[in-house]
This record gives sequence, C-alpha cells and structure tokens, in this order.
Amino acid sequence: LFAKPCDFYFATQKLDMLPPVGGPEVAFAGRSNVGKSSLINALTGRNRLARASSEPGRTKQLNFFNLGGDVSLVDMPGYGYAKASKQVKEDWQGLMFAYLRGRPSLNRVFLLLDARIELKKADQEAMTLLDHAAVVYQLVLTKCDQVKPAVLAAKRREVDETIRKHPAAYPFSIWTSSETGSGIPLLRAEVARLIDA
Ligand code: GTP
Ligand code: MG
Repeated sequence: LFAKPCDFYFATQKLDMLPPVGGPEVAFAGRSNVGKSSLINALTGRNRLARASSEPGRTKQLNFFNLGGDVSLVDMPGYGYAKASKQVKEDWQGLMFAYLRGRPSLNRVFLLLDARIELKKADQEAMTLLDHAAVVYQLVLTKCDQVKPAVLAAKRREVDETIRKHPAAYPFSIWTSSETGSGIPLLRAEVARLIDA
C-alpha cells in the first residue's frame, strides 16, 4: 500500500466544505507540535508532503492526502496550542472535533502523544470526546528517539493505564519516531490492515 503514490488533494477550514464521503479515511490528531505532519511524511516516505514545522500551530486546516486511491490520510490542526487566540482555538477545535465526531468514512483516528511529556488535560478531553462519539482511536507515541529506554518503560505503563480507562481506545499503542523510522512499519501495517489492502 505505501509503495503507491500519495498526493495532497484537498484542504479546508470549514466543516461544510469537506470532500464528499468516499473511500476510507484515517485521521491524525493530537496536540499542536506533537508531530502529526511529520508522521504522515514518515509513513508515506515523502519528506515534504505534509508541512511540518518546529513552530506550533503550523497546520491550520484539515489536509487530505490520498494514498493509492485506497485510503485518505487526514492531517489535522493541533489542539491545546496555548498561544493561539481564543477565536482561532475555537475555530480549529470546532472543525477538528466536528470532523472527528461526524464523519462516516473515518475508519480510525490515530491520536498522537509526545513520549517526552505527560498526558495533558487537552489529550484527556480529546479521548473523552472520541469515547462519546464511539470513534475508535489508537494512541501513537511520537518522538521516541528523544526518550531514554527506562523513561519509555514507565511511559508505557502510564499509556496502558490510560487505554484501560477509555472505552473507545484501541487496546494497543504504537511507539514511533519520525526521525529514526522506528514504529513506522507497524503503523503502516495497521493502516493497511484497516482497509484490507
Ligand atoms: P501542528 O501542525 O502545529 O499541530 O504540529 P504537528 O503535530 O503537525 O507537528 P510537526 O510534524 O510539524 O512537528 C513539530 C516538530 O516536532 C518539528 O520540529 C518536527 O521536526 C519535530 N518532530 C516530529 N516528529 C519527531 C520525531 O519523531 N522525533 C523528533 N526528534 N522530532 C520530531
Ligand atoms: Mg501539522
């Protein structure tokens, strides 16, 4: 699947302008700067497909990428970006949450968490929203290259505990680095399995 071409095809800031419901979609959600756009690039092996930046708040729209005509990968704006204005936060989050709640073609949400930092209130809120919407989401830890093995082990326990508390959370998490590529094959396999391709 991931040997097929992947191209950008749609971006929107407005919920009433989503592309028509078609083939399966998987979305990448998480706090601002957690590494959503970088992960899409690592997955597709294309460095500049999704725009990544060290500046939080880089992705401001829902960006749709089609992979081989089989599945869309959706890069989302991040939540929890403290410096954004209240209006901007409400706009992005309204769009993001409305999309996550109401999209019939959304097969799975990959909810990204930074392996270096503890779970934030905004992450808990996002998970609770997805639980209520009964949208299956899988936790994906990012930036694992930045964390020592012993710290990662402790983090694993925290994540497993979190998964147990959330009914719509998929029972296993994926631990990745977009820098070293660790965990990327597993994430690719998960996407392929989801759409049976
Ligand atoms: P927004 O679009 O602002 O919500 O951010 P995002 O979640 O798309 O994050 P983005 O992919 O733009 O990455 C943010 C920063 O983290 C960039 O400087 C990336 O280079 C860095 N980064 C992302 N993934 C990794 C990783 O696995 N390891 C390391 N070391 N840095 C990473
Ligand atoms: Mg981004």
